[in-house]
Amino acid sequence: MRAPAALLSADGVSKHFGGFVALEGIDLDILPGERLGLIGPNGSGKSTLVNCLCGTLRHDSGMITFAGRKLDGLPAHQRTRLGLARSFQLPKPFRSLSLADNLRVPLLYAVNARPGARLSRAAVAARAAELLADVGLADKRHRLPRELTQVEMRKLELARAVASAPRLLFADEAMAGLSPSEVEEILAVLFRLNAGGITIVLIEHIMRAVMNFSTRLVVLVAGRRIADGAPEEAMRNPEVERAYLGE
Ligand SMILES: Nc1ncnc2c1ncn2[C@@H]1O[C@H](COP(=O)(O)OP(=O)(O)OP(=O)(O)O)[C@@H](O)[C@H]1O
Ligand SMILES: [Mg+2]
Repeated sequence: MRAPAALLSADGVSKHFGGFVALEGIDLDILPGERLGLIGPNGSGKSTLVNCLCGTLRHDSGMITFAGRKLDGLPAHQRTRLGLARSFQLPKPFRSLSLADNLRVPLLYAVNARPGARLSRAAVAARAAELLADVGLADKRHRLPRELTQVEMRKLELARAVASAPRLLFADEAMAGLSPSEVEEILAVLFRLNAGGITIVLIEHIMRAVMNFSTRLVVLVAGRRIADGAPEEAMRNPEVERAYLGE
C-alpha cells in the first residue's frame, strides 16, 4: 500500500548563516493529521527549519511543497493564505491592539484574502470571540497583551496562529517556562486543534509533553535529521542518546 500523500514535503533543504551551516539537506514529509514532535538540542536548527518552511527565512537550496504546491520563493503571508501557520518562540502580538483586534488581523488579512472568502464585520467579530473562548481568554478580549500572564500570552499566540485557519500549525516552544499544569493546558489546546483537523508540529524541549503528544518524532542535531520515527524508537537511537546525554 502507498503511504498517504504528504501535506508538506521538504526535500534537501539547506540554510547557512555566513559560513555556519544551520540546516544540511533536510528531508521531511509531514502527513495530513499527524502530531509530529520536532526535537533537538539548543541551536540544532529547529526554529530555522520552521522559518524556512513558513517563509520567514529563505532557504539556500532544496525544495518545499505544501498541499501539492511549490513554496520556494513565496513570501510568508502567501504561505499563510495557503494554510501554513506558526506560533513564535517569543510571542509577537500587536502590543497596542486588544486581544480581539489581535485576532481580527489574521481574520481580515489571511482568511478574508482567500479566493471566495468574505467574512462580514459581524462574522469576523464572532470568529475572534470564538477563537479567544477556545483558549480560555474570552473575558480578556478587550485587554492589551501586556496585561496577560505568560501562559495567557502563549494561548494568545496560538489563537493568533489558528485564526488564519491553517491546515498545518508549527508550535515553536509554546510551553517553555510554564508550570506543569500550564503545560497541560497548552497541550490540551493543541490536542483539540489536532482533533479538529489541524496537522501539528510541536517543537519542544519538555520531553514529557513531547512524548505524550507526538505520534512521530523527528530529531535534529547540528542541522541534520538524525532520527525520524515512532517516538520511543527515535529516543532509543544511539545518535540521539549521544546528542542528549553527551559522550
Ligand atoms: N538569523 C541568524 N543569523 C545567524 N545565525 C543564526 C540565525 N538564526 C539562527 N542562527 C543560528 O543557527 C543555529 C540554529 O538556530 P535555531 O534557532 O534554529 O536553533 P533551535 O534548534 O531552534 O534552538 P533552541 O532550542 O534554542 O530554540 C544556532 O547556532 C543559531 O545561533
Ligand atoms: Mg528554536
